[in-house]
Amino acid sequence: MTQRHFLPENPCVLVSLISGLIGGVFLVFIFIRAADSPLFQTHASTTSPLQTTPIQLRAILHYATSTVVPQQTIDEITISFDILRSLSPCNFLVFGLGHDSLMWASLNPRGTTLFLEETPEWVQTTLKIVPDLNAHAVNYTTKLYESNDLLSSYKSEPDCFPPDKAYLKNNERCRLELNMLPDEVYDKEWDLIMIDAPRGYFDESPGRMAAIYSAAVMARKRKGSGVTHVFLHDVDRKVEKAYAEEFLCRKYLVKGVGRLWHFEIPPAAKVTEVGRESAGFC
Ligand SMILES: C[S@@+](CC[C@H](N)C(=O)[O-])C[C@H]1O[C@@H](n2cnc3c(N)ncnc32)[C@H](O)[C@@H]1O
Repeated sequence: MTQRHFLPENPCVLVSLISGLIGGVFLVFIFIRAADSPLFQTHASTTSPLQTTPIQLRAILHYATSTVVPQQTIDEITISFDILRSLSPCNFLVFGLGHDSLMWASLNPRGTTLFLEETPEWVQTTLKIVPDLNAHAVNYTTKLYESNDLLSSYKSEPDCFPPDKAYLKNNERCRLELNMLPDEVYDKEWDLIMIDAPRGYFDESPGRMAAIYSAAVMARKRKGSGVTHVFLHDVDRKVEKAYAEEFLCRKYLVKGVGRLWHFEIPPAAKVTEVGRESAGFC
């Protein structure tokens, strides 16, 4: 029986075959490595705004299994939802932690959503349930019963007025200023500000006076393009309404649904120079 030969007799053909084989293995290896590299991945698989994020998945699970729902109605929520849909990823500052917090954060998944809460214990309780929220406790120095006095006297307090000279950080001479917030609050320009806290339904509660005033100052100091969207809840109450009219201004009110008002406040630089200082906030 003759022995069968599988090797070519010509050594040149043999060398070519071996080189081809080694080259092929090398190319496959390079291809696999490249496929793992971020450079090789498609835009859609890494940064697509349609890709679901962990906080959105957590929100679906949370709201699908919770019997507690946010206090704002769907019509009220829809106003901020529409603005978030058009601006996200954006900077969203929220006064108050509540059952709506995970919803707000997950509607701005690639942006910054920061919560300011009056009660440190409530911050801890909420973060235990939803650890991925960015929340800070705020020590308010006002009381609801002072709201009339603060409204009538702020113009004579140095550094409260006029709005474009007012400043927030370390301002000790204006009682309406929130002057002790984390630096992140002062360092960012906020595209949306939601005011649904602190509590303002009994005399000793902090009331929303300082939150409304400080949101107005932040909006007036905006340097970037566009307006600041400010949402104020509980406008059926006397103090919220009076402070909104004084600092957020009827002329900037663009929508009102239920107990929620939506303002679009232009930066002070965009307001006509003539008579700006004497006009005050509105
Ligand atoms: C008027 S509530 C707004 C609640 C929020 N919009 C929601 O849908 O849940 C604002 C404040 O009430 C307090 N608060 C809300 N829910 C609470 C709870 N379950 N326990 C303790 N404090 C709560 C927090 O201090 C919060 O900042």
